[in-house]
Amino acid sequence: MTRVSILGGGKMGEALLGGLLDSGLEPEGLCVAEADPERRRILESTFGGVRVVPAAAWALPDADVVIVAVKPGDVATILTGALDALAADALVISIAAGVTITELERLVPGRPVVRAMPNTPALVRLGAAAIAAGTHALEPHLVLAEKLLGAVGMVVRVPEYQLDAVTGLSGSGPAYIFLVAEALIEAGVLAGIARDTSIALVTQTLLGSATLLAQGASSAEQLRTAVTSPGGTTAAGLRELEVRGVRAAFLDAVIAATQRSRELGQ
Ligand SMILES: NC(=O)c1ccc[n+]([C@@H]2O[C@H](COP(=O)([O-])OP(=O)(O)OC[C@H]3O[C@@H](n4cnc5c(N)ncnc54)[C@H](OP(=O)(O)O)[C@@H]3O)[C@@H](O)[C@H]2O)c1
Repeated sequence: MTRVSILGGGKMGEALLGGLLDSGLEPEGLCVAEADPERRRILESTFGGVRVVPAAAWALPDADVVIVAVKPGDVATILTGALDALAADALVISIAAGVTITELERLVPGRPVVRAMPNTPALVRLGAAAIAAGTHALEPHLVLAEKLLGAVGMVVRVPEYQLDAVTGLSGSGPAYIFLVAEALIEAGVLAGIARDTSIALVTQTLLGSATLLAQGASSAEQLRTAVTSPGGTTAAGLRELEVRGVRAAFLDAVIAATQRSRELGQ
């Protein structure tokens, strides 16, 4: 049995815990450290059998894998304070945005480290995460990290320098899509559709379109072409988006978010 301890029982910690239990890990092998008593009470009642403790030092002894899911500003304090309790060969997976592998390896010297960048759809097990290996992380460590993070979505491997771009693309990506959703809902209302109906139509359109894309049989371009008849309604709509530079705006958005991630990590 792989014993996994999660440091931080916030949104991401809770999502990971739920995913790991659903993926078949035994509750007895799972532990979560959470500072807030009210959050601890909620976690205890939601996840029967999982050990819920108030401090990292209680969660680390016996852990084969430690998942760091506290806010980035808390990572150094929490790991430094609990280092004595951490096994010399424990795998440390951090999802804290902007905390580099160099910094993590300074905090947990000698341990294999994997740095990950997940995104919020992990809350519904449809996350997209990228992982990067630290100096001591070998193939079995990466496979284990993929398996554990895979409990809440898909996982790809990238070199660490690409994690800023991953942050700008899939980390911030849900916000771009929600902005598109908001705009489309308002457009439906402007065109005379009741708000509830517009919300339902837009939500299902996004879900259906994402599902078609995820099936992988056709590229995004092929799928778009398939609904764009010559001289038709979609072509007229797309022309407005192209005239207003929507495609270029997305390119600039991802580059700006990548750059901001780089700045915050320094
Ligand atoms: N949410 C996302 O989409 C997303 C995406 C990519 C990466 N991440 C990363 O994931 C990490 C967690 O994010 P989140 O959204 O889950 O944040 P969150 O909901 O605020 O969760 C952080 C949790 O850690 C707890 N904590 C803080 N210090 C602690 C300590 N010393 N001992 C035990 N528990 C402690 C916090 O408790 P208190 O509230 O009491 O301080 C809080 O419950 C962050 O580093 C973030 O950068 C999040």
